[in-house]
Amino acid sequence: MKKILSIITIILTILYNFNAQAEENNMTDKKILVAYFSATGTTAKVAERLASAIEADLFEIKPAQPYTNADLDWTDKKSRSSIEMTDTTSRPNMASKIDDISKYNIVFVGFPVWWYREPSIIDTFIESYDFSGKTIIPFATSGMSGIGDSGSNIQKLAPQAKVLTGNRFSNDISAEELKEWAKELL
Ligand SMILES: Cc1cc2nc3c(=O)[nH]c(=O)nc-3n(C[C@H](O)[C@H](O)[C@H](O)COP(=O)(O)O)c2cc1C
Repeated sequence: MKKILSIITIILTILYNFNAQAEENNMTDKKILVAYFSATGTTAKVAERLASAIEADLFEIKPAQPYTNADLDWTDKKSRSSIEMTDTTSRPNMASKIDDISKYNIVFVGFPVWWYREPSIIDTFIESYDFSGKTIIPFATSGMSGIGDSGSNIQKLAPQAKVLTGNRFSNDISAEELKEWAKELL
């Protein structure tokens, strides 16, 4: 009886490891990009952690004109961020573009929540490329708001892509948690 139980345990262990390896391979088979915008460094850290956890390429969406502290003042209705976020057609220029986005199947897009949605420069980024047939997965950091309508906003700008709802993370989310989250989606 003991022998049979040992054999069953060995078989189950082999099957479990085989399955875990298959899941890992499934993730690395895909060419993944993590693109992010970060005004004050919080989203940057989460994006770097995610990219390294899932072995993805990393690209920073940098504004052509960097945001100053005054630009980011949400209590000032006349600040640059307030003006941009009030006008949904606003498209701040990016400092640089990705060489070749066509090689990626999956693009994670990270940003800070601004006024309950994605900052306008994310809209610039999405409109700058052909995302046909790709999957876009938004993620965000914030003071406390969720990711809001960012996913459906992005879907409207990239109708040929499959855009997931995405997720909002706290700044101390671990690499392991990010990897688990990504693994479930890929
Ligand atoms: C213009 C502006 C608007 C913001 N709006 C929100 C908001 O609606 N909800 C929220 O929880 N946090 C809001 N925040 C806080 C940021 O989302 C939060 O600090 C974020 O983690 C900053 O990320 P970053 O360091 O990558 O720029 C806002 C910050 C700025 C500058």
